[in-house]
Formats: sequence, C-alpha cells, structure tokens
Amino acid sequence: MSKTFKAMCLVGLLTAACQPQTTEQATQFPPGAHDPMEIDLPLGIEAAPPIPDDNPMTAAKVELGKQLFFDPRLSSDGTVSCATCHNPVLGFTDGRPVSMGVVGQEGGRSAPTVINLAYAQLGVFWDGRAKDLEEQAVGPIANPIEMGNTHRAAVATLNGIRGYREQFEAIFGSADITIDNVGKALAAFERTIISGNSAWDRFTAGDQSALSESAQRGWTLFQDREKANCIACHAGFNLTDNGYHNLGVGMDEEVPDQGRYIVTQAEEDRGRFKTPTLRDILYTRPYMHDGRFWTLAEVVDFYNDGGFRNPTLDQEIKPLRLTDQEKADLVEFMRALDGEGWQVQPPTTLPQAASTAAGLQ
Ligand code: HEC
Ligand code: HEC
Repeated sequence: MSKTFKAMCLVGLLTAACQPQTTEQATQFPPGAHDPMEIDLPLGIEAAPPIPDDNPMTAAKVELGKQLFFDPRLSSDGTVSCATCHNPVLGFTDGRPVSMGVVGQEGGRSAPTVINLAYAQLGVFWDGRAKDLEEQAVGPIANPIEMGNTHRAAVATLNGIRGYREQFEAIFGSADITIDNVGKALAAFERTIISGNSAWDRFTAGDQSALSESAQRGWTLFQDREKANCIACHAGFNLTDNGYHNLGVGMDEEVPDQGRYIVTQAEEDRGRFKTPTLRDILYTRPYMHDGRFWTLAEVVDFYNDGGFRNPTLDQEIKPLRLTDQEKADLVEFMRALDGEGWQVQPPTTLPQAASTAAGLQ
C-alpha cells in the first residue's frame, strides 16, 4: 500500500480499500488511558466536580464519549448527533431559539450549553427532570423529535461497529454494548467540558487590569442586593445557585411551559426553570428556555422591568430602575465571562463498521 493510501486510511477515507487493516487492527490505547483521570481545572474553578462512584473517569472513556457525542449514527436516520444541537463552535448550543432534530422537527425549548454541567446539582434539563448526566445522555437518542431512534436500534448500530465494541470491552469489561454504558461514556466526556480563566476569574484572582472600568462597575452592580441583585441566583464560581426560579419567561404565552411543575406537580414550581451558568454567555444566545432574547441588553431590560408578573413570580425579581449606563455596565460585565478549557476539537475519525462509509462530521 502506498504512503498516501495509508494516510487516507488513517483519516477514515476509502474504507472499503482499507478493510483488511481496519478489521485486523485492534484499537490502540495510549499508555495510562485506563488509569484514574484527574480533570484539568482552569483558574476560577474552585473544586473538582463530583464524580459518581459507578462511573470513574479515565482518558479512554472520555475519548469514547467524545466519539459518541459527535456520531450521527446514534440517530434514526444518521443525520443528527448530540453536537448538532450542542455544537462546540456555538458554546455547545445550536444558536436557535428552539432546537431542530431529525427530519427538521422543532422542540419547545432552547438547547442549553453543556459547559460546566459537571457541577449541576439537583438535576439537569431546564426543569431538572433527569437526575444526572448519565440519565440525561440517553434521553435524546430515543426522543422522537431529537434523534428519533430507539435505544435498542442505537445499541445494535454500535454493536455492529468493531472499533466501538473494542473500546466498550476495554473500558467496561464487556464487548456487549449497553445503553447504560453509552450514557456513562457520554457523561464522562461532558464532565471534561469545563470553562474558567475568564477576564472575571483573572480579576478575582487579583489582576485589576483584567476588567474594564465599565465591567468592574457591572460586577459591583451584579452583586449589590439593593441594585441589580443578580447574585441572588447567579451565585458562586459557576454563577448559578443550581436552583429553579420563576422570572415569568413564557408565562405570557397562551399555554405557558410550566417548567419545574411538570416534574414535581408542586404549585409553587409553576413556571420555574433552572438558573443557568452565565459563563461563556456570549456564545450561547439566544437566551432563556424559549430562546426569546437575542442580546444581553434585551435580557437586562427584561430584568429591569421586573420580569413578567404572574402569580408565582420569584420574590427576588422586581423592577430595578437601572440607568442606561448601569445597564450597559452589566452587559459589559457579562462579556467578561468568556472562558477557556471547554473548546474541544471534534474527532477527525469515527470507528468504522466493516461495510459502511466514513462517518465524518
Ligand atoms: C435536536 C437537538 C438536540 C439533540 C440532538 C441533543 N440535545 Fe441535548 N438538549 C436539547 C434541548 C432542547 C435541551 C433542553 C430540553 C429541556 O430542558 O427540556 C437539551 C438538554 C440537554 C442537557 C441538559 C442541559 C442542562 O443545562 O440541564 C444535556 C446534558 C444534553 N442536552 C446533552 C445531550 C447529549 C449527550 C445528546 C446526545 C446523546 C444530546 N443532548 C442531543 C437539544 C438537543
Ligand atoms: C430569581 C433568580 C434570578 C435572578 C435574581 C437573576 N436571574 Fe438570570 N436567570 C435565572 C433563571 C431561572 C434563568 C432562566 C429562566 C428561563 O429561561 O425561564 C435566568 C437566565 C438568565 C440569562 C440567560 C441565560 C441563558 O443561558 O439563556 C441571563 C443572561 C441572566 N439570567 C442574567 C441575569 C442578570 C444580569 C441578572 C441581574 C440583573 C439576573 N440574571 C438575575 C435566575 C435569576
């Protein structure tokens, strides 16, 4: 085989011609790939995320989870991967008010970012209906308007791909792929998507020049309980209290999305949604669970007006009477929340089934 030919095989092209090599070659793991793995923590991220006992982190598992995250073959028609709606270029969102899944079907909510979800407590999704990342990860595969598949069919597809079988066997001790192990690998990858070292983190660590004067005034306002009061909910190093609150977003609709109430059936949870992190907020527009605002200025105007009045409006939401300069300062502060550590490159190749074409995305 010529050199160029070999190179093409390596990047997953010309699969049929490369078959003898791919089928006989065992998956290679770099040294230490199965050892316990520590997650790199950028500046400002104060603690390592909690890792479930039954899903320890290893480099091999994270790598497998990454391949699955970008693999459209998990969907019914092979067109939609997790990354379609959680695209790293768009801060792991899709840049759309509401998401679009297989055959162009739209859902009712905006895709949240996956950044720093390793720190999610009290559930994931806008309404917290999945208990952890493991449980959440397998949901979209079988959601008719997301990836439109069944768990059984998705697992059968993966079982037909030798490269996946070898990885699952080395990592989970069984070549027979299960949906639970798919969820574990995806969750392990997601836990590595951590953002820190923003201008705000550098400022907090003592570098006064990291924030402009306007952003510094914005940070002061943000924390002032008598002024903007954002810190009441967007608190701590991840700028969220991990709680659920009603700001009235969507309560002006004819049939409002009841949010957390759908999960708990508790009256006080009507219209409550999860407080999202504000890290990398410039990337994740449009904003709110229904993607109604395209700019941070609109979001600040919404808070300044006191949200949208409704019977279960949060007590911390009230008209703020901010000046135009104060509003601009708050936006300037949020612009300083762009971080590092979460930017990942999609895998260049995906494991190939013996007879299918390259699944490059
Ligand atoms: C068709 C678009 C789409 C696809 C494909 C998709 N998601 Fe999502 N994802 C969403 C939307 C929309 C939500 C919010 C839904 C809700 O809260 O009810 C969401 C929520 C999430 C959350 C919770 C985020 C939070 O802040 O609580 C995680 C984690 C997640 N998705 C991971 C994944 C993974 C892993 C896959 C692939 C197996 C995937 N998603 C596939 C659109 C999508
Ligand atoms: C009472 C708690 C609370 C307070 C106070 C609060 N927020 Fe929020 N914030 C939330 C919740 C909950 C959401 C999601 C609401 C939804 O989608 O329905 C949110 C969403 C946002 C978003 C959109 C995030 C995204 O990913 O879509 C931004 C930006 C934001 N808040 C900024 C601020 C600023 C600036 C302030 C202060 C002026 C503030 N928040 C005060 C709870 C709060």
